[in-house]
Order: sequence, then C-alpha cells, then structure tokens
Amino acid sequence: MKAVVVYESHWGNTEAVARAIADGLGEGARALTTDEASGDAIAGADLIVAGAPVMAFGLPSDKMRDSLVAEVSKAPRPPDLSHESMRSWLDRLPAGHGRSATFDTRIWWSPGGATGPIDRGLRRAGYMPIDLRNVRPAARRRARPCPAMGSRTRPGRGSRRDGSDAGLTQLLRQRQINALRGQS
Ligand SMILES: Cc1cc2nc3c(=O)[nH]c(=O)nc-3n(C[C@H](O)[C@H](O)[C@H](O)COP(=O)(O)O)c2cc1C
Repeated sequence: MKAVVVYESHWGNTEAVARAIADGLGEGARALTTDEASGDAIAGADLIVAGAPVMAFGLPSDKMRDSLVAEVSKAPRPPDLSHESMRSWLDRLPAGHGRSATFDTRIWWSPGGATGPIDRGLRRAGYMPIDLRNVRPAARRRARPCPAMGSRTRPGRGSRRDGSDAGLTQLLRQRQINALRGQS
C-alpha cells in the first residue's frame, strides 16, 4: 500500500503528528510537506492522510498565513511559511483513486476545524474518506436486542457499512496508537 501523509505546519505541531501517523502506518509511508507532495510522491497513492493546524476556527487562509508574519515577535520562533498552503496544494491536487483521512491540530477546544475543507478537497480529486466511525472499541460494540428478531440480536449503531474499509481503518488506528505510545 502506498500511503502518504501531507501536512501544513508553521511551528511543528502538525508536522510531529504527521510523522507519528506515517510511523504508525509503517514501512514506506512518508510524511511530506505540501511542496514535497507532488508528482511521483503522490502518484498512485492508495491512501492520502492530510492535516493542518486550525486557525481562526478553520483551515488557514492565505490572508491568515500572511498575518502570521506579524506574530513573529510574540512567538518563540518564526513560523515556517516556506511551503505552500494546504489550500493551494488541494487546489492543484491531480485526480486519483485512493482513500483519504484527515487530521488537524488545535488548542484544546475550537468551534470549527481544518478537516472539513481538506476532506472536501481530497474528495474532489477522487480520494474518498475511510470511515473511522466504523471502528469502535469492543466494549461499545455491544449487540442490542432486536425486537423484530425475538431473542436474537443485531449489531449496534457501529455496524460496518463498508466492509472493505473496516480492516484498513482498524489497522490505521492501531498503528497510530502504537506510534504515539512509542513516542510518549
Ligand atoms: C494565528 C493563530 C490562530 C489560531 N486559531 C486557532 C483556532 O481558531 N482554534 C484553535 O483551536 N487553535 C487555533 N490556533 C492554535 C493552532 O491551531 C495550534 O497551535 C496548532 O497546533 C499549530 O500547529 P503548527 O505548530 O503545526 O503550526 C491558532 C494559532 C495561531 C498562531
């Protein structure tokens, strides 16, 4: 499986998460800046995982990135604005046929996030999202009584709607958990 993790990061938080995800995905998976993620680097990718920091409750805009220059005096170090934005990377993303997953980094709570626009951009290019809702902790995957079937049961709300995703999402989640545990 060719898996690529693409990130926008100004101070390194999103980059660190991207690298942990790539480590978790295993051999061959690479974490790439938006500049690095072009041409052969993403051609034929089976999975693209893309992430960015949340800014002003959403995916950073060019205007927001420009304003970061003014933040330099307040930050411990200057923001890295040397790579193109996730927005512009998504705009020029060539058509593909793989699957996708998204993530963002943020302060503890935010009413909005960066993953919505990333998800839409990836879908537009043909990378359909894996459905992490299908992966539920075993304890919550209890079968509920089904009145129509008497004493027999049916799966709960977390039942697999797309069996082809289930193995992949389980693998991704477990590998991410392992990678993050390894770093702690
Ligand atoms: C100008 C600016 C705006 C931000 N806006 C938000 C926000 O709306 N919501 C939020 O949860 N975090 C916000 N943050 C926090 C960043 O999302 C967070 O620090 C992120 O991890 C930075 O990622 P990076 O180190 O990869 O650049 C903001 C940070 C900056 C500098």
